[in-house]
Amino acid sequence: MNASVWTILVAAGRGERLGAERPKAFADLGGRPLLAESLERLDACPRIEGIVIAAPPGWEEPTILLAEELGCGKASIVVTGGATRSESVRLALAEIPAEADVIIVHDAARPLLDQAVIERVLEPLGEGWQGAIPALPLTDTVKRVEAETVVETPERSSLVAVQTPQAFLAETLRAAYASALGEASDCAAFVEAQGARVTWVEGDSRLHKVTTAEDLALVSGWLAEAR
Ligand code: CTP
Ligand code: MG
Repeated sequence: MNASVWTILVAAGRGERLGAERPKAFADLGGRPLLAESLERLDACPRIEGIVIAAPPGWEEPTILLAEELGCGKASIVVTGGATRSESVRLALAEIPAEADVIIVHDAARPLLDQAVIERVLEPLGEGWQGAIPALPLTDTVKRVEAETVVETPERSSLVAVQTPQAFLAETLRAAYASALGEASDCAAFVEAQGARVTWVEGDSRLHKVTTAEDLALVSGWLAEAR
């Protein structure tokens, strides 16, 4: 698919569960801000034309400087993020050029982004799908609970755990956000709610999201191994 592909890199979260004194995107990962890892990998992807970063409020300047230092010329636009992930995506989306055909949304909190995953989510968009998301089968049994009561056991084989990068046709993502109500923890939720065709492709266990200090230690170990 010979499309103009743009990326939204959401990095505006506070990182409350990580509990560092700076926003999660600027927590130390292998001697650099965590944001550096995914930014550099997106910038290096030949399929990607431009990157819009949603930065933590007050951290716009350090974000621009980091992109410059890394020589990430595709990261031409930095916006101030919103109060929620959905709001940060919405603010970044407003800055994506009209000529973009495809938009990839990625969490800065998933630093170990492999080029192969980007290829996997882009491929279905050339085959009639309006969105594609990376996912992994669940290994644990999953329960639905209400307060302290275990209510039911959904059938595990029809459940997957979802990651980013998530890729969408630009018009599909724009339409989904134009009519989206409330909040969702990923972009595909709004797209699905529109009845759009979203498929899933194989995710990557190394795309593990850094949420707690334990996650950060795990991911920095993997990064050190790979270097
Ligand atoms: N995010 C964002 N704007 C927000 C909240 C989240 O851009 N207002 C981004 C985060 O920077 C992260 C991704 O969305 O890359 C996933 O969010 P999460 O892992 O929950 O990060 P935080 O919200 O920073 O962490 P916490 O919920 O522990 O505060
Ligand atoms: Mg959060």
